[in-house]
Amino acid sequence: QAADARIDVLLDEPIARIDPNVYGHFVEHLGGVVYDGIWVGEQSRIANTAGIRQALVDRMRRLPKGVIRWPGGCFADSYDWRDGVGPREARPRRTNFWADGMGQRPDGPWKYDTNQFGTNEFVRFVRLCEANPYLAANLRSLPARDFYQWVEYCNSPAGSTTLADLRGKGGSAEPLRVRFWGVGNESWGCGGNLTAEEYAVEYRKFTAWVPRFGQELSFIGSGPNGGDLGWTRGFFSNLTAKGEGALASMWGWGLHHYSWNVSRGATTDWDAGKGDALVYTADEWYEMLAQANQMESLITGHWAVMGEIDRRHRVKLVVDEWGTWHKPGSEVHPSHHLGQQSSIRDALVAGLTLDTFHRHADKVAMANIAQLVNCLQSLFLTDGDKFITTPTYHIFEMYAPHAGAQAVRTQFGAPSVTYDRVREKATVLGLAGSASVSDRTLTLTVVNTHVTEACDATIAVRGGRATAAQAVTLRATNIHAHNTFDRPSEVVPGASAALTAGSGGTLTHRFPPASVTRVTVTLG
Ligand code: AHR
Repeated sequence: QAADARIDVLLDEPIARIDPNVYGHFVEHLGGVVYDGIWVGEQSRIANTAGIRQALVDRMRRLPKGVIRWPGGCFADSYDWRDGVGPREARPRRTNFWADGMGQRPDGPWKYDTNQFGTNEFVRFVRLCEANPYLAANLRSLPARDFYQWVEYCNSPAGSTTLADLRGKGGSAEPLRVRFWGVGNESWGCGGNLTAEEYAVEYRKFTAWVPRFGQELSFIGSGPNGGDLGWTRGFFSNLTAKGEGALASMWGWGLHHYSWNVSRGATTDWDAGKGDALVYTADEWYEMLAQANQMESLITGHWAVMGEIDRRHRVKLVVDEWGTWHKPGSEVHPSHHLGQQSSIRDALVAGLTLDTFHRHADKVAMANIAQLVNCLQSLFLTDGDKFITTPTYHIFEMYAPHAGAQAVRTQFGAPSVTYDRVREKATVLGLAGSASVSDRTLTLTVVNTHVTEACDATIAVRGGRATAAQAVTLRATNIHAHNTFDRPSEVVPGASAALTAGSGGTLTHRFPPASVTRVTVTLG
């Protein structure tokens, strides 16, 4: 059985260039992200460059070149950057309160951070990936002085100051050229439990008179928890309390949104109350996708509130944490806290979310999926010398032509799907996606959310003529499919296939159930 749908791509209605930074990543000192995932050490038998896992770098080079955010997350507001610089053998070991319980288990067990992976190692990793660094500064437990000295450590000219010399001893005589700086993280919660008004005062203090060293600095404010419009309104009105000039100090406004299944069991525990990464019903499948689709209203809602003060919209949205969050139990290694598995369902979440960013390319300047490896919606899973890509990785690779391309408006007309959301009926879009153009090539990405039904769509390219079209699809034999160390290619994109020409210059295509498709159209 197949539903009918129509997709209109409006070439004459450009939205904006899709910033490659929308394809950014997030690395936090949590579970197995840094130690095991990225840092294996120079003496490791696992292939590495200067201690950094080579297989990871090789795969990252195949993806859009966005930013990588570090060192947190909540961890950032407990982190002293001085612990991670200078000779590695002399670096202190610290308690990492966040690594094994996100602060939910203050009595432990905790992890201990050896600080072998610090600023120089992180930036080396980022440069090996041909990406750019985005550092999140500690606003909760260090003063503003430590922030601007971290900027000095990273960006001051070779040989100029004591901190520049220290950087040089770490192997980077030349400036690290760090442009993006987060000013705290989740300052409404783990980052200080502040009110929006209090945070605005701290933000102004932290960003005033930070030395530039000839490097453009782009500050990113710690934005709301999901739909908390009051945080955005409270911050912007207090940021400008001493004049609208303060808006010029700001480049981006953070937004965090995680998708999870609501508790259907007895417990409302933060971890255990969530749904499973691999065991779920069709209703839970749809619920997860509907959660991902909330990104649309979060973007438009916060954007509208920002515009009440920032009328010219100088400040853009930075969705610096997004992805799925499942309950513990599917980790590939017990020490990988939040190291959930990732299925074809997570891949659809990635497709829907990236498509949403493209449709709002005029508003979203950066985004960072949480997290890169061994944590939440990872692109990679590792365990010692074992290394695999997840279905989400394949979405990032399939969607790569969108990065840097011109987003154009696209209309989807398709039946929506009704499902049971615990005690009520709800709906999710049956077919959704986005389109962009670069060098006479149109890239159209389409998610079919239905678990069993294909969708026959007519695609009309308005304002242009399609001379050839190919489709490549990520789909699975069942909705729980995922890759494992034993079966690493269970969910990988299929071979490319030509589209059929329809009447009046249209194209037709059957989008399989539970799939993500990239259609590449050559324009005449
Ligand atoms: O990504 C995991 C955690 O989720 C981050 O540390 C925090 O910022 C968010 O609450």
